[in-house]
Amino acid sequence: MSFKDQIVKERLPRHVAIIMDGNGRWAKNHGEPRVFGHMNGVNAVREALTAAGEIGVKYLTLYAFSTENWDRPLEEVSALMNLLVETIVKEIEDLQDKDVRLTAIGDLQLLPAECRKTLEKAIKSTSGNKRINLILALSYSARWEISRAAQRIAEKVKLGELDPADVDQHCLEQHLCTTDIPDPELLIRSSGEKRLSNFLLWQLAYSELYFTETLWPDFTKEHFYEALVAYQNRERRFGKISEQVTI
Ligand code: FPP
Repeated sequence: MSFKDQIVKERLPRHVAIIMDGNGRWAKNHGEPRVFGHMNGVNAVREALTAAGEIGVKYLTLYAFSTENWDRPLEEVSALMNLLVETIVKEIEDLQDKDVRLTAIGDLQLLPAECRKTLEKAIKSTSGNKRINLILALSYSARWEISRAAQRIAEKVKLGELDPADVDQHCLEQHLCTTDIPDPELLIRSSGEKRLSNFLLWQLAYSELYFTETLWPDFTKEHFYEALVAYQNRERRFGKISEQVTI
């Protein structure tokens, strides 16, 4: 039986987040430059998005470029930015056909002007789509996001718009990039690395973590479904005991 056939539709995660890792190693294994791995990584993005859309996952967040990735060699950074622009331009029709709403989280001001323009245009043109939300984390890091939230809250307190007594978890969430987006129930990381790498640290507090040895360019729809099956076999207790959990 395929992994897809094992999925219980009534217990799907609403939100799946993915750390797409292993492009560089995949390219090296193929005797090619790192950029070749990123180019092939786009196929895996398509696979994951199609799988999520077909099965009924409503939010898919992809860690496409971290704040720390700016420190990579200029050549790789430029190639990744170009790839992003090219991919959006090439895929926009397909995103419309698949009813995908594109959004982005991160310090988008830092993106090159052309990249930002293309991204903003795609975000606007897909804003009415309903089937699935594709959220690209670009120039993103959780520590940047949480610090920015603290800064925005402090400004409101200073202006007298917010009482310090009201600065609670809900308030902080309202100032993150992910306001109105449910927390991911499942995080997938490819390539065998087992860390969070500054990704959605607040939002992943109770997420199930799933690690696969598969390098990102080799990731297929079936790998996505395999992760969903593993998720459905976990017991999510949220700090309670087994007998209290009724999922
Ligand atoms: C991590 O692999 C991957 C990235 C930093 C870039 C991810 C980008 C893509 C998959 C392509 C573009 C995406 C979109 C949404 C159009 P790595 O380079 O760290 O691999 P390594 O750990 O093997 O060196």
